[in-house]
Amino acid sequence: MIKRHTMQSEFSLIANTIINRRKFVVGGATFSTMTLLTGLTSLISTAKEDKPHHRSFQFEDVPANTNDTVLVPKGFHWHVVASWGDPLWSNGSEFNRQTRGSAESQKLAFGDNNDGMELFSKDAHTILAVNNEYTNIEIMYGNRTSKGPETFDDLAKGKAAVGVSIMEILRQSNRWFIVKDSEFNRRITADTPTQITGPARGHDLVKTNIDPRGTTPLGTWANCGSGRTPWGTYLTCEENFNHYFASSNPGYVPTKEMRRYGIQTNRLHQREKYGWENHDERFDISKHPNEANRFGYLVEINPLDPSSSPKKHSALGRFKHENAAVVLNLDNHLVVYMGDDERGEFIYRFVSSKPYNSKQKNTDLLESGRLYVAKFLDNMRGQWIELTSETTGMRSQAEICIHTRLAGSSVGATTMDRPEWISVDPNTSDVYCCLTNNKDRGKEPNAGGDATPIDGPNPRRGNKYGQIIRWTPDGNDHRNLNFSWDLFLLAGNPTVHSDLNAGSANMNKDNLFNCPDGLAFDTAGNLWIQTDGNYKNEGDFSGMGNNQMLVANTETGEIKRFLVGPKECEVTGITWSTDKTTLFVGIQHPGERGNSHFPDGGNSVPRSSVIAIERDDGQAFG
Ligand code: FEO
Ligand code: CA
Ligand code: CA
Ligand code: CA
Repeated sequence: MIKRHTMQSEFSLIANTIINRRKFVVGGATFSTMTLLTGLTSLISTAKEDKPHHRSFQFEDVPANTNDTVLVPKGFHWHVVASWGDPLWSNGSEFNRQTRGSAESQKLAFGDNNDGMELFSKDAHTILAVNNEYTNIEIMYGNRTSKGPETFDDLAKGKAAVGVSIMEILRQSNRWFIVKDSEFNRRITADTPTQITGPARGHDLVKTNIDPRGTTPLGTWANCGSGRTPWGTYLTCEENFNHYFASSNPGYVPTKEMRRYGIQTNRLHQREKYGWENHDERFDISKHPNEANRFGYLVEINPLDPSSSPKKHSALGRFKHENAAVVLNLDNHLVVYMGDDERGEFIYRFVSSKPYNSKQKNTDLLESGRLYVAKFLDNMRGQWIELTSETTGMRSQAEICIHTRLAGSSVGATTMDRPEWISVDPNTSDVYCCLTNNKDRGKEPNAGGDATPIDGPNPRRGNKYGQIIRWTPDGNDHRNLNFSWDLFLLAGNPTVHSDLNAGSANMNKDNLFNCPDGLAFDTAGNLWIQTDGNYKNEGDFSGMGNNQMLVANTETGEIKRFLVGPKECEVTGITWSTDKTTLFVGIQHPGERGNSHFPDGGNSVPRSSVIAIERDDGQAFG
């Protein structure tokens, strides 16, 4: 076994290399940026010489800014496809800026805070499935004096604004719009009946008084990133599900398992005071302690069948699922990589029991398989540890799939700096994951008490900028237990810092950003990076402007800024039209602190939106 001190020295070496290289840049040496990038990449990255080359995407990068609009490069333009409150049916009503809608109008409309999304097609129909992660209380209830939900209708409006919006869209007269009343349109909300599959189905821990069989939870919410299966279904990921539970009894003591998942008797932050427990008893943990065990799953939805039940696949574990990166392995088994976005939580892998068979429906492939958690070793190697009763000491696979975080801790998984989206390079078997930030790194353990030492994949104390880690499975086999890893990027600010907080050398004054979050490869192999970071544009974050989207060339390490979002937004969610001429991007929570009027301008209420970006020449991206 390799001792901890070896790890420290290994990573001191990498850290010093980055620092030295950065000094070189700051010192204004005559090397070109490209030389520096190549130099650093060869030092911090696994050699990629044996990999096929992709055609890199050409565009003129855009400057950082703090404007209240979307900026894209010269030769591209954008328009809004759907905004919070836009009706999906003709019996709905247009968004009311005064009331910001009612429960009735919201049930018939596009939800709030759109995040991950995927595009599907059937015959001539184009169907967009979009997550609606949460609501901005102060915006949604801005018509109320308390700036919070005050009536039962307010609560029902909030529950109808989350979940998933599925809608047919059509491009006509040079723009995309919602096809009202399409047979495919559907809203899935916090009250939509769903099914649990896999080991947790029917287990005592998921039984409640309204569902004594433990099979049919009501609703999905906190739907963050997305994924898709080879058989054409949508994957939506339940992330911060805990924010909706509270207790009418302030003396109720949450269990150890509840505490690990952040389930509390009271929400401490005004922005998380949804108040559902005041009107719907199932959100009261003192009365229904098992209700929360029915959330935190990866959920599969058939976007082409509005009558189908969403399926919560417990075999892929219960945690704060960010997104789902699905790979069809060489042997046709399905492999799903997943991050658990919380400070000091883990990265997971699922491998289906059965292989994919293109001649069959495959609809049960996510119902049974093996679940693993990642251990990143000190020598830039890593291992997947399977979570079983034998390895974890837990009583059953059902318990492992319900209290997955505790299972991960029991096998000594590596605590990470908040794993966000994962994406797999279509030209190689490299897997990339955003580790967005972690103010507790090197200071506080995770919620289960696991230490968060400064280590290889997480090399900075109180990490404020984030990094992107990548790994390659041995033998390019995604079922292999062993992999090699390196850091593709350390975000930072080289105009402010000259230590590790300057970032890796592929950060420069022209592409400054912090907190990478959304991540997706296009089919040509360009890596799109979306940010959810600090937009103060001062101090440590000076020169970074609003949240943004960048494109990375993973062979050279070069990263260029493609888009800047409006004020106080996060850029999250990305997908392409079938012909690749339109890039759909999510603009989430513009004006979350009260300073945006995106997209309608004037004095309007800011609204999260899906936008479409196209080239002026109408050509495909990439
Ligand atoms: Fe919903 Fe971790 O982002
Ligand atoms: Ca995210
Ligand atoms: Ca984030
Ligand atoms: Ca967000």
